[in-house]
Amino acid sequence: MDRNLALEFVRITEAAAIASSRFMGRGDEKAADQAAVDAMRRAFDSVNVDGTVVIGEGERDEAPMLYIGETVGKKGTDAPSVDIALDPLEGTTICATGGVGSISVIAVAERGNFLHAPDTYMEKIACGPAAKGKISLDLTPKENIERVAEALGKNVDEVTVVILDRPRHEKLIREVRECGARIHLIGDGDVSAGIAPCSEDSGIDLLLGTGGAPEGVITAAALKCLGGDFQGRLCFRNDEEKARALKMGLSESDLGKIFTLEELAKGSVMFCATGVTDGPLLKGVRWLPEGRGQTESIVMRSQTGTVRRVFAEHNFSKKSL
Ligand code: FBP
Repeated sequence: MDRNLALEFVRITEAAAIASSRFMGRGDEKAADQAAVDAMRRAFDSVNVDGTVVIGEGERDEAPMLYIGETVGKKGTDAPSVDIALDPLEGTTICATGGVGSISVIAVAERGNFLHAPDTYMEKIACGPAAKGKISLDLTPKENIERVAEALGKNVDEVTVVILDRPRHEKLIREVRECGARIHLIGDGDVSAGIAPCSEDSGIDLLLGTGGAPEGVITAAALKCLGGDFQGRLCFRNDEEKARALKMGLSESDLGKIFTLEELAKGSVMFCATGVTDGPLLKGVRWLPEGRGQTESIVMRSQTGTVRRVFAEHNFSKKSL
């Protein structure tokens, strides 16, 4: 994959972040998400790729744009064939309530290299580079926390675990508390939370718990670029979800399997995200006087491990969205 592509993709997440940020705090999740989807779909037309959405807004019958299987990009001569995992607005509720850490995100891999994760749940564990290879969904939360503590040279009570605040995590939260680790409960947004252990600054050492499976693949792509680690196991609420997974190409044995980072995001990948609202990973969109705005994005490639932060000032009187 051409390295310049990564910097092209940032225009796409910028466009989606700017569009959805207009809806920050307005209590309208649907409108915020729709604005991000529309802007992202439009922005793809200016990037010369032959892209197939493999993680997107849903299946074709339920999502008119950026649905799974939709082809996107300019598709000009020499356009590379890539698979795209995207979430135009990760954290719709966060954006609608003006909360912390909604982002617009795209991950890109060569064709066939992302797991085609169905829209179901995934049990997840994510850590930073120091604990890579030491965590496993086969271990108990206590065992994982102890391993992370050892890898980081910390005491267990100095380890902070980020967990989605959900009733389904009652047992997990109890177990983490019993072993003495600190917990940071979040309302939404486990992509940013999963990336957080890669940055010392974030104050987060480990992500545990169950969230969206599509978000799991996107998080795995980011962690691959940052040298962190991730595992995911699909969780199904009913037989219909299992049937959908099989229809998407997964096998019976995939249904209870622990997917490693490499199985979720194979080969060389790129990751690109722009902040919508302020968060630990990225600053949100700023609206400035005289029709200007600012965005902060992160762009990374697994092949080189380069991580770029892109601060952009946009002049909307010269360039409409
Ligand atoms: P949306 O952007 O689709 O609203 O997802 C937000 C999110 O918090 C994800 O980060 C997370 O993986 C998922 O929802 C958790 O799902 P649920 O809200 O059903 O527990």
